Amino acid sequence: MNNQEVIICEQLENDLNRVVEQHPHDKLFILTDQHTHSLCLPRLKGIQALEGAEEIIIGPEDVNKTLDTLASVWQALSARGASRHSLLVNLGGGMVTDLGGFAAATFKRGITYINIPTTLLAMVDASVGGKTGINFNGLKNEIGAFAPATAVLLETEFLRTLDDCNLLSGYAEMLKHGLISDQRHLNELLAFDLEKADYARLKSMVGRSVQVKEDIVEQDPQEHGIRKALNLGHTAGHAFESLALAEGCPVLHGYAVAWGMVCELYLSHIKAGFPKEKMRQVVQFIKTYYGIFNFTCNQYETLYGLMKHDKKNTAGIINFTLLKDTGEICLNQTADKETLFEMFDFYRECMGV
Ligand code: GLY
Repeated sequence: MNNQEVIICEQLENDLNRVVEQHPHDKLFILTDQHTHSLCLPRLKGIQALEGAEEIIIGPEDVNKTLDTLASVWQALSARGASRHSLLVNLGGGMVTDLGGFAAATFKRGITYINIPTTLLAMVDASVGGKTGINFNGLKNEIGAFAPATAVLLETEFLRTLDDCNLLSGYAEMLKHGLISDQRHLNELLAFDLEKADYARLKSMVGRSVQVKEDIVEQDPQEHGIRKALNLGHTAGHAFESLALAEGCPVLHGYAVAWGMVCELYLSHIKAGFPKEKMRQVVQFIKTYYGIFNFTCNQYETLYGLMKHDKKNTAGIINFTLLKDTGEICLNQTADKETLFEMFDFYRECMGV
């Protein structure tokens, strides 16, 4: 996989001009969704590098992360004369960077693209590391490719206008990066006041958080080993996300991951000796900021079934990433049904469900 330049912008204009200049192209395209077109693109107006850029606008949110939307992007590129030497800039949250990245990876067998993520989730996770794709057949990110952006420009000023729920959603992935890296970073994250966000501190923590992901992806770009560390909280988290969706009350990805981390820290404690006090501290933080995902013991079987079908499993064996301690990662762990039901009991007890 090619190296990806991740830039914490001091001045988006200068950084974007430089990056675009480094990638000679015959035509430049900028992909937004209807939200980022009206809320974020104006912030880029007047930037020299984007003069004459062709705009492609798609529908917002996960519901539009489809083959039809992808085809509409291919169609727009084709109709407006894109060649293999064209450059695509994706401006948006994870849906835009995932779908735009996949459109770039596949159009004429691949064109260069740049990500400018506008949500915290996209900044610290989706836009970095080369995973691109769309949903298909009712399954999230079912079709895709590893195809890194040539550059990712992190302009944390966009976060000032992000709503609280989406800020928290991205922050869950930052907490995960704290847990899988080091105690100092985790302490800093746990001490941050999300209700009165200090944006200068947040910017520095975003830089540290992305570095954790970059270091891991560099060692294992295609998730054969250590990249699975980034799946902490996601096995139980995906089950919560799917259950919520099936019940017609979808939850944001990061919230599901936060609740998934409560479950998987419990598993880490009983199976790998993760310290109880640290587990309590993280659980308390999650309870305070993310509230509670409600389910009853009648839904344990459904949640178990969802985990059995997780795409991270091999041969039907549920795969977890667990921790012995902060930054001490245990890959490819599993647990039997009885232990998983105990895990759900623990979740409901400590979260007060
Ligand atoms: N979102 C986890 C990864 O990029 O591997």
